[in-house]
Amino acid sequence: METIRLNNGVEMPMEGFGVFQVTDETQCEQAVAEAIGAGYRLIDTASSYGNEEAVGRAIRQWNVSREEFFITTKAYIHQMGYEATKAAFFQSLEKLGLDYLDLYLIHMPFGDYYGSWRAMEELYREGKIRAIGVCNFLPDRLLDLCKNVTVTPQINQIERHPHYQREEELDLMRELGVQPQAWAPFAEGMKGMFTEPVFQEIAGKYGKTPAQVILRWNVQQGVIVIPKSVHPERMRENLGIWDFALDGEDMERIKALDLGCPSMLDTRKVSEVRRVYGYLEHPVLTSL
Ligand SMILES: NC(=O)c1ccc[n+]([C@@H]2O[C@H](COP(=O)([O-])OP(=O)(O)OC[C@H]3O[C@@H](n4cnc5c(N)ncnc54)[C@H](OP(=O)(O)O)[C@@H]3O)[C@@H](O)[C@H]2O)c1
Repeated sequence: METIRLNNGVEMPMEGFGVFQVTDETQCEQAVAEAIGAGYRLIDTASSYGNEEAVGRAIRQWNVSREEFFITTKAYIHQMGYEATKAAFFQSLEKLGLDYLDLYLIHMPFGDYYGSWRAMEELYREGKIRAIGVCNFLPDRLLDLCKNVTVTPQINQIERHPHYQREEELDLMRELGVQPQAWAPFAEGMKGMFTEPVFQEIAGKYGKTPAQVILRWNVQQGVIVIPKSVHPERMRENLGIWDFALDGEDMERIKALDLGCPSMLDTRKVSEVRRVYGYLEHPVLTSL
């Protein structure tokens, strides 16, 4: 597994394990424990996933040193603002059973995220977080944030997969020194991602699976991936992307699959903003 050096010198794995929608405590603990056994060290959770305690328990099942792990969690929109983010950070840390975080992210570009960023900069300088970043920041908001903060975000975690390639946004992130990380690298399997003939053909050529080709396409462009699966065989399959490389022709074929619009989340749409705020009524959040 390759690592990448963030703009503050911290080394981060190029592939990790995501736990969105694994809300059942037992299932989450088991899945993360299996993922660690398979070789994942980067685990991506969020306060809004309601599974930080299960992630923490899974980590403690293994005799792996803390330094080997790269643990990420996120502050959701009701945790924005200086005071709320500080409180949210310590709550997440306690739930995970950790004394520092590797990466802490602002989950959505809504609310008083500048106040949150000041709190995160302080925690970062105090050594409680090794890297700080954002999620779902479109280029205008990302550039504005970078112009107004003293610590440039290390990460922007965005929806990215072959149907939504966001090349210009990646160019801006490279210019700003913000490392892109792809969430939903399979678009959660929507729009026939796994059965797309192009992926089947390319997979056959390398003796790989469509899932492996899709992940390889992202990492080969320097984008970190965090696929989610509750199936151990798929966890292992998704790790099998470090012994082959797609050639230029294959990369061009995948480039042609870009639909140019999100499959999962479009923060520019009023209906989507309403949906994101509506999630505050979800039992996972009301029980926080
Ligand atoms: N920052 C954000 O706003 C944000 C938003 C969404 C997600 N994320 C993060 O990104 C992670 C990944 O995104 P995601 O979970 O939404 O979607 P994803 O990783 O694109 O897709 C997960 C789906 O693909 C299936 N799958 C996984 N590996 C497979 C394989 N090898 N073959 C066939 N099917 C496979 C899984 O099924 P099974 O589980 O049944 O195997 C699951 O249904 C999340 O878990 C979360 O950590 C962040």
